[in-house]
Amino acid sequence: MEKKTEKRRIVLVPFPLQGHITPMMQLGQALNLKGFSITVALGESNRISSSQHFPGFQFNTIPESLPVSVSEIEAFGPVEFLLKLNKTSEASFKVCISQLLIQQGNDIACIIYDDLLYFCGAAAKEFKIPSIIFSTTSATHKVCCCVLSKLNAEKFLIDMEDPDLQNKVVENLHPVSFKDLPIGGFGPLERFLVLCREISNKRSACGAIINTASCLESSSLTLMQQEFGIPVYPLGPLHITASTRSSLLEEDRSCIEWLNNQKPRSVIYISMGSIFEMETNEVLEVANGLCDSNQPFLWVIRPGSKPLPEEVSKMVSEKGFVVKWAPQNEVLAHPAVGGFWSHCGWNSTMESIAEGVPMICRPSDGEQKLNALYIESVWRIGILLQDEVERGEVERAVKRLIVDDEGAGMRERALVLKEKLNASVRSGGSSYDSLNELVNYLKTEQKNAKTSGSNY
Ligand code: UDX
Repeated sequence: MEKKTEKRRIVLVPFPLQGHITPMMQLGQALNLKGFSITVALGESNRISSSQHFPGFQFNTIPESLPVSVSEIEAFGPVEFLLKLNKTSEASFKVCISQLLIQQGNDIACIIYDDLLYFCGAAAKEFKIPSIIFSTTSATHKVCCCVLSKLNAEKFLIDMEDPDLQNKVVENLHPVSFKDLPIGGFGPLERFLVLCREISNKRSACGAIINTASCLESSSLTLMQQEFGIPVYPLGPLHITASTRSSLLEEDRSCIEWLNNQKPRSVIYISMGSIFEMETNEVLEVANGLCDSNQPFLWVIRPGSKPLPEEVSKMVSEKGFVVKWAPQNEVLAHPAVGGFWSHCGWNSTMESIAEGVPMICRPSDGEQKLNALYIESVWRIGILLQDEVERGEVERAVKRLIVDDEGAGMRERALVLKEKLNASVRSGGSSYDSLNELVNYLKTEQKNAKTSGSNY
């Protein structure tokens, strides 16, 4: 008779916003399928109420001093919010872990935490539990944060007045130049660099998991490995390895029926992710440009967004299809979709490439600009719109992408990348192998720790 073995438990600590929860829950699902029990630790005001989508997962609460929400983040500014959150959460997380250890008879194989929640590192060290950092952004972004963490804010700002230095390529990181370093949208540089130092500090972590694949970012992954000096596990795209439903908003599936009635590769899908909102002026220009392009469009306008003037709202609903939240992966996989107007969040970028859909890039912050740079200049699968957009420019961009030969070339390259990306998570692929390495490590971590002298 087969001997019954206890599953080892992994504690996941996601940052509770959509773009972070989704890949972390996918990771949980992937590890659960490999035989681990999963506990998800979240603050009291978290919004994952969908434990029915994760049968067998345990959800534990971290007593909260600072609720995480887009409005709180905006009120403090993202940098001050994150610094404060980390400062105030360590003690309550330790309480949460000590209770879990009692419940689990001391058997916690590892704590895997979002890199924004670096307070988890201290708790893991105190309880001598191995920890692994999880990053939801690109490897290039992680490397840029390491570069930034070593800079002096005052000197950097003076240096950046020199156009030659602005355009100088960051060592080994072509085509990223110093002006592309992702500092935009985060308030005073000095404080942002403090945050970069905290996030780039591996503390006692035994590894770093990242939701990317080596076919997209091979050299950045090598640099990341050098910077961190611990094993880096590129497991992406996690949404293919483990498709879970962890949407915090209800998906409106009526758009799939609408897509079923559109011509192949004719529709432009517009979504700006879960946080960013376009300025009213831009919404008007985009609405008019899309209507002028005569291409069908599917537009996600999230609940709570600034209302459109009535005549624009009417025109948009007549010429396109608007939903509050879409089943994005299904939309991108639909044969009617020909292009994605995106803010270039890392999840959206990977999801679009995984379906071979070329993009119109309209990034807002520094990280998204970095993704857009890769989309346009490295993978050459998209068009970057910079500065203020006008309706003529919107119409031209849509035509370039959906109708012109230029767009056909981008689509071809996107389809080649799609194949590579999908192959990376299949048996023998780089992300598939990385996941198995991680699993082997997690199953034998105590033995590893003894032989390497790690002091987690
Ligand atoms: C942010 C950052 O932009 C991102 O780079 C980082 O990795 C996580 O935090 P966000 O701005 O929300 O995330 O964008 P993105 O990373 O693209 O994530 C949005 C997620 O929401 C995607 O997984 C997308 O599939 C999903 N989504 C979006 C839907 O399911 N439906 C929608 O209608 C819109």
